[in-house]
Amino acid sequence: MIFKFNKKHLYALYLFICLVPFLVQAQEINSPNKNLILKFELATNGAPTYQLSYKGKAVIKPSTLGLEATDVPSFMDGFSITNTEQKLVDESWNPVLGEEKTIRNNYNELVVTLAQAKNNNRYIRIRFRLFNDGLGFRYEFPKQDGLKYFIIKEEHTEFQLAGNHKIFWIPGDYDTNEYAYTTSKISEIPLLIKKATPFMNAQQPIKELAVQTPSMMKSDDGLYINIHEAALINYPSMSLNVDATTFKMSSHLTPDAVGNKGYMQTDAQTPWRTIVVSDKATEILASKLILNLNEPTSYKDVSWIKPVKYIGIWWEYFVAGKSTWAYGVENNVKLNQDFTKLTPNGKHGATTEHAKEYIDFAFANGFDAILIEGWNIGWEDWIGNWKEEVFDFTTAYPDFDVKAVQEHAAAKGVKIIMHHETSGAATNYERRLDRAFEFMNANGYDAVKTGYVGQIIPRGEHHDGQWMVNHYIHVAERAADYKIMIDSHEAVRPTGLNRTYPNWVAQESARGTEFEAMGGLAPEHTTILPFTRLMGGPMDFTPGIFQTDLTYYKTGGNQRVNTTLVKQLAYYVTMYSPLQMAADIPDNYNRFPDAFQFIKDVAVDWDNSYILEAEPGDYITIARKAKGKEAWFVGGITDENSRTATIAFNYLPAGKKYIATIYGDAKDASWNEKPQSYVISKVIVTSKTVLKQYIAPGGGIAISIKEATDSEMKGLKKI
Ligand code: NOJ
Ligand code: CA
Repeated sequence: MIFKFNKKHLYALYLFICLVPFLVQAQEINSPNKNLILKFELATNGAPTYQLSYKGKAVIKPSTLGLEATDVPSFMDGFSITNTEQKLVDESWNPVLGEEKTIRNNYNELVVTLAQAKNNNRYIRIRFRLFNDGLGFRYEFPKQDGLKYFIIKEEHTEFQLAGNHKIFWIPGDYDTNEYAYTTSKISEIPLLIKKATPFMNAQQPIKELAVQTPSMMKSDDGLYINIHEAALINYPSMSLNVDATTFKMSSHLTPDAVGNKGYMQTDAQTPWRTIVVSDKATEILASKLILNLNEPTSYKDVSWIKPVKYIGIWWEYFVAGKSTWAYGVENNVKLNQDFTKLTPNGKHGATTEHAKEYIDFAFANGFDAILIEGWNIGWEDWIGNWKEEVFDFTTAYPDFDVKAVQEHAAAKGVKIIMHHETSGAATNYERRLDRAFEFMNANGYDAVKTGYVGQIIPRGEHHDGQWMVNHYIHVAERAADYKIMIDSHEAVRPTGLNRTYPNWVAQESARGTEFEAMGGLAPEHTTILPFTRLMGGPMDFTPGIFQTDLTYYKTGGNQRVNTTLVKQLAYYVTMYSPLQMAADIPDNYNRFPDAFQFIKDVAVDWDNSYILEAEPGDYITIARKAKGKEAWFVGGITDENSRTATIAFNYLPAGKKYIATIYGDAKDASWNEKPQSYVISKVIVTSKTVLKQYIAPGGGIAISIKEATDSEMKGLKKI
């Protein structure tokens, strides 16, 4: 029989052609250890969707992906899959500074190419990387005819959570991330958002119900889920709109001055959207997924990037009431006026003499550097006026002799950390940046703390928008040309860019110690920060306050730092930063030399980190091995409740004895009564030791462990 192709066959063929795409539309990949499964699918309208499960439990239920543009058709639906690629990557790399000497980068990748027939087959790619500790994905816009420039109206990445999780959150805001955390169910956010959004400098709270990332959640059945982003470059920062009844979160980008959300030119890509997930809270803290999703650095020479332990003319501006950033009593100054003619207020902190005292203290106690704030003209009138030319970054006040201070520091081998407060005027800073860095090079300064207090200029731009994101990166890259390290305050929250720009060594970008002098931090605050803000990168939290009762200074007010002294020690281990401050005033360290010894000894750069215990909002215990040394440090903290920490030492080499110096809260200590009551003891430990250690309410535990000779160990108890 001769086969005759008729209408019926044509219809069958048509059906087949239509159905084939559906049959191949679903794509699935596993994490290398198979705990996570990612499924990608097109909905019937051709909208991309994904879902994620962990050990069989839903982490993200089917959720839509897409972007809306202002000037070209949207990237939302009408897609078909034209290509898919998969690969397994397993490699490792060494960060310049870090919590681990070697980081493993192990994931399964799925790249889906999606074409829109309705838009002349314009195409995009979605790249998924599934690690053992979570998922990263991003949108890519390859160079092609018909897609060159476009403007983003909004990104519509959805995260359909599987339930009414507990969430540790701060309100969505385009300009500040210095809010206190609220812990609640997702469904309770609408009731709490007003209280969670008090007045803050330069704030611009998001009008819709939204929270910031990194957003930390815990499901009723014990899954820990963290949503953030990685490699935020040439794109605005993402907050999450919250649907408090369906538990769906969706991306909310920071707009620019005219309301647009991102200017794109192909080739282009968005940052990675990250979902770190585990049934163990400790694994969330150990995750290196965000760093892994950032590009390796292109810097050829990184030898000048060093860990820094520093003190500073700083805390006294907040508490002692005896000194100020400003030199003059005037409150209306301009850069081009003669600052030697100002009437001195008699309280200027950054004087030549005072700087020398700090340098001597740094030298005597082995610190690498001192930060000097308030050395440069303009502080009489620096905040609240949306003023562009506040600082020039190169002219010192009449009572600060740059050369003399530098010579004194150089003679003692102490570095000086420059301070560039921009007061939010990024334009002014960019204009003066090269002069400022040349000045630093000429005077031997190799690190700078930058600051962005106040409303941003260009006026109408936000701290977290695309323009400013590019500004911070520009500053980091330019600084690298001058071999300068950056510690930025009030910049956009970090997204692991310290891998790509390793001289951007630390950031504040959250509510830090300064708030202890401005209303206080809740005792639980620092048990949350490592699960939120620090997921993106190191924090210049500025720990080390020994005089926690601030009424001590008799400057009025009933303030206190809401921790025990020992908890402040523990922060050097629990709050990772390769640039770490001892923030208190030297006098206070001189009053407690035995406790100060821990700060002097503690490392800030590490070979290995071991997250021993953790629960967001409750407690964290971490042990770390110092980079290149046989020395280990343990830090443990609790919230307002006392607890007994279980501290294992199984990371110590087996068969050897070590001396552990334990800095513990005394039995009568607590954050609000007898915070300075502590006990220091020395014991012998081995890899088999497990220590049960009491931690006071709002307290901590700090341990330093070192190799020791037999004679050093004589008379010490083994535990
Ligand atoms: C805010 C910063 O966080 C703080 O450390 C600094 O002292 C002030 N701005 C002044 O720049
Ligand atoms: Ca700040």
